[in-house]
Amino acid sequence: MKTVNLFQKLKDNNEKIAMLTAYDYSTAKVIEEAGIDAILVGDSLAMVALGYRDTYIITADEMKIFVKAVSKGAPNSFIVADMPFMSYNINVEQGLENASKMVKAGASAIKLEGCNKYILTLIQRCVESGIPVLGHLGFTPQLMNTIGGHKIQGKTAEMTEEILANAQKLEAAGCFAVVLELMPAESAKYITDNLNIPTIGIGAGADCSGQIVVTDDILGKFTDFKPKFVKKYADLHNIVLESIGQYKNEVKTLAFPSLEESFELNSEERDKLDI
Ligand code: KIV
Repeated sequence: MKTVNLFQKLKDNNEKIAMLTAYDYSTAKVIEEAGIDAILVGDSLAMVALGYRDTYIITADEMKIFVKAVSKGAPNSFIVADMPFMSYNINVEQGLENASKMVKAGASAIKLEGCNKYILTLIQRCVESGIPVLGHLGFTPQLMNTIGGHKIQGKTAEMTEEILANAQKLEAAGCFAVVLELMPAESAKYITDNLNIPTIGIGAGADCSGQIVVTDDILGKFTDFKPKFVKKYADLHNIVLESIGQYKNEVKTLAFPSLEESFELNSEERDKLDI
């Protein structure tokens, strides 16, 4: 069973941390089989699995269903549940209650975006209550409307120092690691080099302590858009499209089902069949 200690252990051993997202039982199962270090049930599922316009709409109660499925598929994995937009921003009690829902659904930890006085208090309270927290800085999708779009962060020394200062606050509050999203590789390296906890990059270059990507993106399954930082390891969309087309043709031409996929009576059963 993987635990939160794995993150620091991998960083200390200079071994990169490989994380992926999962939203369902069968994907979680194959991710665990492949030996991925930890799984994130990301709120990206709002767009990727539910087809919502953005990630703002998903609720903690909806997330719980996906966390349950992933924890069933990957019972030995370290599973981080994303806390959806406004499921932790009203007050500490609300944040703790929703964090506890994620853990009861099977998560080992939660992820929160941003850093301010309130978030730091919430992180401390979660950690004191036994809920490990993964931070998330740089581009934080839940703040997209205030940031003003998908903007690369940390492009100047001042911006990078500010992200580092926030990452150090997250570390002091008790985060076991921090996601760094959408920033120049040099900035992410500088931040990583000045932290004790590991950094997990997404669109943040090769020098973070680990990487995370959306599984549906790297498998070529989600095709609505493809961020620059995504490398496609497979083209599932076209494989699925071709297979479904073949199935359709075989149904139309009576090639499916064949005898192999059918059940037949033996002669005795056939004699008794009164139809
Ligand atoms: O929601 C998500 O999938 C994320 C990323 C860091 C992959 O937050």
